[in-house]
Amino acid sequence: MLTLRNLAVNYGAVPAIHDVSAEFEAGTVNFIVGPNGAGKSTLLLTIAGALRPRMGSISFRGKTISGMNPEDVASQGCSLVPEGRQVFSRLTINENLRLGSIAGRRKGGSSADTEEVLSLFPILRERYSQAAGTLSGGEQQQLSIARALLTRPELLLIDEPSLGLAPLVVDGVYEILRKLKNDSLTMIIVEQQATRVRNNGDTVTVVRDGHVAFSSKVSTISDYSELEKAYFGFS
Ligand SMILES: Nc1ncnc2c1ncn2[C@@H]1O[C@H](COP(=O)(O)OP(=O)(O)OP(=O)(O)O)[C@@H](O)[C@H]1O
Ligand SMILES: [Mg+2]
Repeated sequence: MLTLRNLAVNYGAVPAIHDVSAEFEAGTVNFIVGPNGAGKSTLLLTIAGALRPRMGSISFRGKTISGMNPEDVASQGCSLVPEGRQVFSRLTINENLRLGSIAGRRKGGSSADTEEVLSLFPILRERYSQAAGTLSGGEQQQLSIARALLTRPELLLIDEPSLGLAPLVVDGVYEILRKLKNDSLTMIIVEQQATRVRNNGDTVTVVRDGHVAFSSKVSTISDYSELEKAYFGFS
């Protein structure tokens, strides 16, 4: 579904990603893990069209999307849930969701779509007219995912869904992500820790210092020490 070929991304003259190649199949949940500053968010932002690669190409469902702007990437069916959630805190939940439904493939987004998404997130339905800034961190994460779903994506990119959340709240977020997988949504999930990989992932890629240090199907990993070595940079 998504192929990255020899991607390199700079911030000005400073390289953040160099020579990343990877493939992600339809219907799979793919983790990208790695330490602070490894280039994980840069990679997702580049796939989503918010950053332009200096080299390399990205193809999504057989079509080249590198060089497209974020709106066009979203309208192709690839949506980003950004790091730190980034909800519009003064707008209501309803207004935040409407911003999602006008950004995506089905322009205007029917109320049936909103109903379908809200059935996954009962708390958002309860708080529909409340300002998003008054939601808890876990609830804001749900809103951020719900907003991205309203663009009707086939591929969802999620940057650190557990950031700043208590473990029990993270469990709730992953329960929702499992439901989405059952609906055959393809996902690329960035996490700093590899703890969620074993139970939730089909593949795992370790990004370190801007390159792929390890990549494997989860089902074929018998011993996680190789992944850990790649993560911590031990050879
Ligand atoms: N806007 C920017 N301008 C300049 N350098 C940046 C910018 N954003 C990120 N960087 C640098 O690019 C590198 C990769 O950053 P990135 O945010 O992709 O890392 P990350 O893996 O997502 O880290 P974290 O786990 O802390 O979120 C880092 O060295 C970072 O300092
Ligand atoms: Mg990041």
